Amino acid sequence: MKFITGSLRRLSCVLGLLLLGLGTAFGTLRAQNQPVKIEPVQEPPPLYLDTNQPVEKRVEDLLGRMTLEEKIAQVHADSKFSTAAIPRLGIPRRWIDDGPHGVREDVGPYSWDPAGRTDDYATWMPALSALGSTWNVDLATAYGNVLGQESRARDKDIILAPIVDIARTPISGRIYEYFGEDPFLNTRMGVNYIEGVQSNDVAACVKHFAGNNQEDGRGSINMDMDERTLREIYLPPFEAAVKEAHVWAVMGAYTKFRGEYCAYNDYLINKILKGEWGFPGLVMSDWGGTHSTREAALGGLDVEMGTLVGSEDKSAYTNFFLASAFLDAIRTNGIPVSVLDDKVRRSLRVMFASHIFDPVRLPGALNSPEHRTTAQRVAEESMVLLKNNNNALPLDVSKIKSVAVIGENAVRHNAAGFFGAGVKTMYEVTPLDGIEQLVGGKVNVTYSAGYSKEGGDSNLVKRAVTAARQADVAIIVAGLNHSRYLDDEGRDRTNLSLPYGQNELIQRVARINRRTIVVLVSGPAIEMDPWLDRVPAVLQAHYSGMEGGHALARILFGDVNPSGKLTVTYPKQLMDSPAHALDTYPGTNGTLFYKEGLLVGYRWFDAKDIKPLFPFGFGLSYTTFEYSNLKLVPGHDTNGPVVTAEFDLANTGPRAGAEVAELYIHQENPTLPRPLKELKGFKKVLLNPGEKQTVSIPLDVRSFAFYDPAQAGWVSEAGNFKILVGSSSRDIRLQDTFHLPQTSVEK
Ligand code: BGC
Repeated sequence: MKFITGSLRRLSCVLGLLLLGLGTAFGTLRAQNQPVKIEPVQEPPPLYLDTNQPVEKRVEDLLGRMTLEEKIAQVHADSKFSTAAIPRLGIPRRWIDDGPHGVREDVGPYSWDPAGRTDDYATWMPALSALGSTWNVDLATAYGNVLGQESRARDKDIILAPIVDIARTPISGRIYEYFGEDPFLNTRMGVNYIEGVQSNDVAACVKHFAGNNQEDGRGSINMDMDERTLREIYLPPFEAAVKEAHVWAVMGAYTKFRGEYCAYNDYLINKILKGEWGFPGLVMSDWGGTHSTREAALGGLDVEMGTLVGSEDKSAYTNFFLASAFLDAIRTNGIPVSVLDDKVRRSLRVMFASHIFDPVRLPGALNSPEHRTTAQRVAEESMVLLKNNNNALPLDVSKIKSVAVIGENAVRHNAAGFFGAGVKTMYEVTPLDGIEQLVGGKVNVTYSAGYSKEGGDSNLVKRAVTAARQADVAIIVAGLNHSRYLDDEGRDRTNLSLPYGQNELIQRVARINRRTIVVLVSGPAIEMDPWLDRVPAVLQAHYSGMEGGHALARILFGDVNPSGKLTVTYPKQLMDSPAHALDTYPGTNGTLFYKEGLLVGYRWFDAKDIKPLFPFGFGLSYTTFEYSNLKLVPGHDTNGPVVTAEFDLANTGPRAGAEVAELYIHQENPTLPRPLKELKGFKKVLLNPGEKQTVSIPLDVRSFAFYDPAQAGWVSEAGNFKILVGSSSRDIRLQDTFHLPQTSVEK
């Protein structure tokens, strides 16, 4: 039962193991039925408990002791978020939970209703779109570490995170759960996040493999794309999760790929993930993402979760596709037992890797001050200053007497209550809380809602306008929320506009108060045409976690210099985005071909020369940075950089600040067409006023490669490559040409 506390669970596991040893030791004595001199029998513990043995030997030993039924119990759920214990062998119940923004509130074992516990509060971290916008890989490690520690403290074995899916369309309902639109950025953030989680004896489960890029129709839509696009855009973050971060679990997407469900897609899972990449861990289905026994068993699915099985009680779980029906298929030789053994082996490997059987397992920590500090740092580094005319920001408390805070998002709580991305958190510092706490004693802070999620009330607008008229500065905290058709799972947004009449609200407030600052609490992206040129400053604040209000206030009033940059291109209008311009969204008759191919996000805007509202990689600062002196320093070509871009970055403004320097490559005359620019490196550098640093960004051979389907490999072609260094994808400050001396192919 989930209600057993962490320590009780560990105790029951130890007792199970003890009984197991005693049972073996005393079995023969009892059978002889005569007085015996009881001496401690020095029978060695089973090999699989010997931590000095190699993992593979321990796996084989334990597998060899399991009955067919016990093996079957490991490949499907026995409650919403667990698989069964096998006390006889000391295998504990394996607990799984969401991810990705904090360890989710526990639900009842057989329903989605909250379990009603009081010990399942967790740190609510900023959304992954915020983490991505920090462009700070060390923060990704720290974030993963918070998740890992809290998972352990909550007694979870597998955490369903991170999401490394590509933001293909800006209206995806889950875009706020994604790092962004670029495979390289998603890769770098994902790898560090996973390493952070797994350093705590908890398995990360990277998701959704491969291509849950929209919510509409996700349960059945069949997506397809050309092989190069698959390899260059959608797979790299997963490939690196396996090869670099050694992730222990992968979740299959709900969607179909080339006709077969992703969770047991022979090509994606057997051939690529487990075959080419040599993934030794387990593949888990998304909740309800399994639809058959034979295909799932043979297509590479290792653990079936969340299948909808009618009655919601314990017995329902025997109806899972990989439960009784799988057992029957094995018993009747319909499916070889080796297929089951491979699945169980993978589960056992993950258990050993996360030290489930070992006497000491890292204990973790929950709701610690350190975790809250990390949440705040991520929030502070994530917010993106999109516009700041005449230094409208930061606000100087010594020069203003009053601030009108306007907008429902200034007081809305966003942490809890929606699918897997929600977190039950002890508190949430809203934007209004943050502003009041920081400057409430020095300036007069008023609040008016301005709009309502519940529907039109023109008085709200009037009151907001009056408040704005009476204040020195108006701060409108606008944006979206997690309601249906906004930033929510299962359905996409229908457009990029602000809902609830917020456009009109901003226009009317801006008309009355020239110093109107717009703060957007939302996932990316928002259409701003109706008001962008009427306000001096806009800040994208994301869903910024339990400390978000503090972070926001510190940015607005200048205690923190914003350093976030966009990870998604903001189009002027939805039809400028590739999936929509080519009418390939949301698919026709259940099928969706990714016609834009490689030209996702900024690659499309570059190729078609479309001016975005704000480009990928864009973000302002309260200071200014100067780039100079680019040098391309040749390196080695095996397991190291082939070249390192070195350049100077100086803070030429009045305040300390951090700049994300971005490096893109452009191949001249490639044999296969390539995007004009591809991100291949970045570095975030903190500089004091007047300080200058030399920044180095190494490029390995893969940085230059494209995937050639004809050769089934990554080809780095001899020839010239432009190395472009800049402050955004549309603000290249330095460039030089690198000549790659020889062609190589990596299979
Ligand atoms: C989501 C997954 C999540 C799972 C369990 C699904 O609806 O797609 O990301 O991990 O539910 O909550």
